[in-house]
Amino acid sequence: MQEIIILNKTFVPFLEHSLIQQRIEEIAVQMQKDYATREPLFLGVLNGSFLFAADLLKNYQGTCRISFVKFTSYHGTQSSGQVNTLLGLNEDLKGQHIIILEDIVDSGLTLHQLLLTLQSYQPSSVQVASLLLKPKALKMAVSVDYCGFEVENDFLLGFGLDYNGYGRNLKHIYKLKTKNVYA
Ligand code: IMP
Ligand code: MG
Repeated sequence: MQEIIILNKTFVPFLEHSLIQQRIEEIAVQMQKDYATREPLFLGVLNGSFLFAADLLKNYQGTCRISFVKFTSYHGTQSSGQVNTLLGLNEDLKGQHIIILEDIVDSGLTLHQLLLTLQSYQPSSVQVASLLLKPKALKMAVSVDYCGFEVENDFLLGFGLDYNGYGRNLKHIYKLKTKNVYA
């Protein structure tokens, strides 16, 4: 693995593809045991979770369904700030066993909002799987049931994670060389 440069920022190798695959396989095996008597409905959060979802589901051999949701976020002109609307929720979630698939949980705000929204659909159970978790960045008390890797508060790139839209297709995960991506 080599350093890469995207939009003038240098990213250094952090998690190699084979290590990511190995961890995803372990999570799939654990989930199969946990859901042996239940049929999960996986709910991937776009855009970032697309590779994690694909690799996890290829390894999950139980009966299941997968769907994807996406948050639209825009900054309004009013002081109320950010408005997020959830798109793509066209399944009947009532009585379902949902497993949310996230690329990364940082502040936990996105996950918190998703969990609140899902509750109104009266699912039977909701669990969360995230490839990455930044425990020190959490601002909300959200629990991640299946976590690939706990990481420090660094800016990461690749395997679904982007920097200004680029880098999602990288098979390894990289870390920003400098401390702050906006520096
Ligand atoms: P939250 O702060 O937990 O709500 O995370 C929101 C979103 O920020 C994640 O789903 C990612 O799309 C993005 N994000 C958080 N940390 C990183 C990172 O290190 N690299 C790239 N995207 C990130
Ligand atoms: Mg995301």
